[in-house]
Amino acid sequence: MSAKATIRIDTFKAEQRISRHIYGQFAEHLGRCIYDGIWVGPDSKVPNINGYRKDIVDALKAIKIPNLRWPGGCFADDYHWRDGIGPRDKRPRTVNIHWGNYVEDNSFGTHEFMDLCELLGCDPYIAFNVGSGSPTEMRAWLEYMTFDRDSSLALERKKNGREKPWKLPFVGIGNENWGCGGDMTPEFYTNLFNQFRVFARDFGPNHPIRIACGPNVEDYNWASVVLKNGRGVQGLSWHYYTHYPNWQTKGAALADDVDSWQGMLEQALRIDKILTRADAIMDSADPENRIGLYFDEWGTWHRTEHGDSALYQQSTIRDALVASVHFDIFHKHCRRLRMTNIAQTVNVLQAMILTEVGGQNRMVLTPTYHVFDLYKVHQDATYLPATVVANDYVVGGRKIAGVSASASRSEDGNVNLSITNLHHEDGVDIDVEVAGVTRVSGKILTSATLNAHNTFDKPSEVKPTGFDGASVKGGTVRVSLPARSVVTLTLS
Ligand code: AHR
Repeated sequence: MSAKATIRIDTFKAEQRISRHIYGQFAEHLGRCIYDGIWVGPDSKVPNINGYRKDIVDALKAIKIPNLRWPGGCFADDYHWRDGIGPRDKRPRTVNIHWGNYVEDNSFGTHEFMDLCELLGCDPYIAFNVGSGSPTEMRAWLEYMTFDRDSSLALERKKNGREKPWKLPFVGIGNENWGCGGDMTPEFYTNLFNQFRVFARDFGPNHPIRIACGPNVEDYNWASVVLKNGRGVQGLSWHYYTHYPNWQTKGAALADDVDSWQGMLEQALRIDKILTRADAIMDSADPENRIGLYFDEWGTWHRTEHGDSALYQQSTIRDALVASVHFDIFHKHCRRLRMTNIAQTVNVLQAMILTEVGGQNRMVLTPTYHVFDLYKVHQDATYLPATVVANDYVVGGRKIAGVSASASRSEDGNVNLSITNLHHEDGVDIDVEVAGVTRVSGKILTSATLNAHNTFDKPSEVKPTGFDGASVKGGTVRVSLPARSVVTLTLS
C-alpha cells in the first residue's frame, strides 16, 4: 500500500546556512572507540597511518567529517593531559573510572588526537576537565597546544615532536557537570564556568569558542541558569539520547517488532521539541544570536552487547532513520544550532564504523554511516524551508509524522532534498513542489527487514543504491518511496 504526501520547498526563503559542523563526530576513551578502534598503534598488522587505522581514516574523510570531539564524555572530567604526552612507553597507566575501570595506557593522547584531526582535515573540539581538574591545568594544556612562542610549555611540545602550534577552534568547559562531571547544581557549575573561562585564554593566534556545559534532555532550568549567570558564554552544549522504551529498560539493537520500530522513531522526533524550547530560551537570553547551540552528544542507546561499560551495539536501518530525522530537524534549527556530535564514531553507541575485536582487519560501515554520506551535500549549504503534508503514521494509539524531509541549496545552485519514509511497511507517493526544476537524480537507503544491518561477513546488506523512483513532470517532482527508507535527491 502507498500513501500520498506533498512537500513544498520554499526557494525564496534562503536565509540560513547549515553549518558543516552539524555533521560532527565524538570519540571517547570508552570501550573500543579509540583503542582497537581508531587507534591500533604504528606496529599493528592492521594497515595504519602512524597508528590510525587507514580504512577508518579513509571512511571518515569520505563523509567529510568536519570536527571531532574528544576525550569524552564522562572520561573528560577525569582526564589529566600530562598523562598523554611524551614517549608512549613512559606514560603512566591510569584507571578509567567511568567505563569499567580498565587500565588506560595513555598511548593515545594530545599529539595523537591533534594529529588525527589534521590527517582527517577536521577541526578538533576538546572537552576540558572541570569536574576533577583545575583552571591551572586547563590553561597549561591550552598553552602547550596553541602557544606560538618559546614558553617552557611550547618548548616541551616542540621537544615532543610538534613544532608549530595546533589550532583548537572549540573548547568545551566541562562535560555533563550535572552528572558524571561532578554532580553539580547549575548555579555551582556556572560559577566554575566563569572561573575557568577567565583562564581559557587565546594563546597567539588561536581564538577558541568557549562552550559551557548545557543540560540533559529537558532540564531547561539548567540552560536558563547558565545563560543568565554565565559570563562570556559563546556556546551552550546539550545532550539527548534516543532509547526505547525508556532509559532504565533499553531495547535490543536488533529488535524487529513494529512497536520498537515506531517507538524509537517517536523518541527521535522529540529532538524537535527540545530544540524549539532551547531556541526560545536562548533567544530570550541572547536575542542577537551570538551564543551558539552545540548539541555535542546525540544518537541511539540500546541494550549493551559486550558488557555494560563498552557500549558496543549493532546499527540497523532503524538507527539510520533515527539519524536522518535528526538531521532534518537539525537543519530546521540551523539558525542557532552551530554543531552536533553523534555518539560515537567507532564501536560505541550509534557508531559509523564497527571493527572486529582484537586488531583484526575487518570493519563495516553501518547504515548510520550511509546516512552521513547521503546528507553530506547539506554541509555548509543554504537551508531551504520544506513543508511536508503527509498522513500520520499510527501504531496502536501512537501517532507520529509519516514523512520527514529537509532541503538546501548547494554552491553549484542545485537543490538537495532528503526525504525519509518512517513507515515500517507502507510506501509513500510524494509530489514535490519546487520552482524551476527539470532534472532529478538520487540515492536511496532502504532494507528488506526492520532490523537489517551489516556484519563482518555480510558488510553490504544495507547500503545506498541509485534511486529510480523520481521523475519530473510539468514542474512537479514525483517521488515513490518504499517503506523504511531515506533518499537524497538532487534537483536541477
Ligand atoms: O557517550 C557516552 C556517555 O554518555 C558520555 O561519556 C557521557 O557524556 C554521556 O552520558
